[in-house]
Amino acid sequence: MYPTKRPRRLRRNPSIRNLVQETKIDLSQLIYPVFINATLRKPAPISAMPGISEHTIDSLLSEIEGIFAAGLHQFLIFGSPQSKDAQATGAYDEKGIVQQAVRKIRSEFPGSVIFTDVCLCAFTDHGHCGVVRDGLIHNDASVELLTRIALSHAQAGADFVAPSDMMDGRVLRIRQTLDEHGFDNIGILSYAAKFASAFYGPFREAAHSAPQFGDRKSHQMDPANRREALREMQMDLEEGADILMIKPALAYLDLIREASNRFLVPIAAYNVSGEYSMVKAAAQKGWVDEAQIRAEILLSIRRAGANIIITYFARDLALGN
Ligand code: PBG
Repeated sequence: MYPTKRPRRLRRNPSIRNLVQETKIDLSQLIYPVFINATLRKPAPISAMPGISEHTIDSLLSEIEGIFAAGLHQFLIFGSPQSKDAQATGAYDEKGIVQQAVRKIRSEFPGSVIFTDVCLCAFTDHGHCGVVRDGLIHNDASVELLTRIALSHAQAGADFVAPSDMMDGRVLRIRQTLDEHGFDNIGILSYAAKFASAFYGPFREAAHSAPQFGDRKSHQMDPANRREALREMQMDLEEGADILMIKPALAYLDLIREASNRFLVPIAAYNVSGEYSMVKAAAQKGWVDEAQIRAEILLSIRRAGANIIITYFARDLALGN
């Protein structure tokens, strides 16, 4: 009775291995985050994120053109305004940088799916995700501004708004406001379980959004808390989120799995800047094989249960780098 069961039969050649592969990475389920900065005259590489640049509207459109032609059609837009103030005015200005970019992408790339990041941090002079009163982030005042931002993005032509602020109740207020203005078709991808993470470090250089005092721990979650993350996701679902996101991805694969088992909406995971930059840095030193590491990381996120991955690697994958 030497083994009759031989799993190696299914690994005999590449075709058989492909046939039995349980998860795949497909461009149709990736979202590429892009940065647009109103103060630039030409694109500026982000030193902590090799291969990623901040863009002018023109350079963003040409970047998108190549990626779009290669078959990747989903984009998440981050903006940095001409000037910042305490009320994040540039974030909900109908002529703001994000709104302009969305209008252009909408008209030049029919068939694109446009997600917009909804937060105050890149638009406030203090770098916080909300309105600061007496040194604290005021929840409900922040939600009012976030709602205005989301509405202005919908008016510009976004398909999905993606609130990343972690204020309480914002998904409900955004849903109500979009509906009142006839945007019942516009979806909400909520950063539902967003942790206070050091993995966002490189991004804050890109978005110029580091807080000038304090930190984000009064709204972003404690990395130690699993049950609280499930409660955040449950609440956002009840408030009307169409897609739930977990962020970062790699250190939180357990939550991606649990969310996928529990909630009957698509689950997204954000493979954040620090996760990207660590791979790029190690690859530049020749310590790891970038393409293989990248594939393994993205597969792990899919295997954990994410339907959708937001990743800076989307560009390299689309362009075959
Ligand atoms: C803004 C925002 C952040 C990220 C997405 N939206 C940074 C933060 O909360 O400080 C992180 C993205 C990344 O690291 O790739 N609130």
